[in-house]
Amino acid sequence: MKPVSEKLSDGLNKQITAEFESAYLYLAMADFLQGRNFDGMAYWFRKQADEEKTHAMKIHDFLIERHLTPVLGEIKAPNTQWTGVMNVFDEAYQHECLVSSMIYDLVAQAMEDKDYASLSMLQWFVDEQVEEEEQSLALLEKARMIDDVASGLMVLDQQMGARTD
Ligand SMILES: [Fe+2]
Repeated sequence: MKPVSEKLSDGLNKQITAEFESAYLYLAMADFLQGRNFDGMAYWFRKQADEEKTHAMKIHDFLIERHLTPVLGEIKAPNTQWTGVMNVFDEAYQHECLVSSMIYDLVAQAMEDKDYASLSMLQWFVDEQVEEEEQSLALLEKARMIDDVASGLMVLDQQMGARTD
């Protein structure tokens, strides 16, 4: 099998850091929501943070499989100046759109390299991002509908607390 190009391995290493940064962001969001007694929303974002760590490890382990040593970059502290639930959900959605564009850049590089093994691994992330964007947009749209009305927020909090995956 042809080795992973330097450009692509650089990008994959950066993506490991980005996935951990996503985990950090979602954990901070969980803590923000917990502080406002939205236990269900906090639970949902904690689960989301856990998921992001598995994404980071998926790329990490792929590099190991390809006989490369992952380079772990610095994880930036998230900005936590949210104004409320809608603002949190809006940032979560924007963040997922940003992650999708990062994945597409990696796909483009793997295509340029004709690195079919990396492409196959990245295809999983392309599919995952469709789900992540849909999920976070649905939450944002619900928050917009609720428009900060307490009874609506409580219902959404309960729904999010019932997340099973
Ligand atoms: Fe992710």
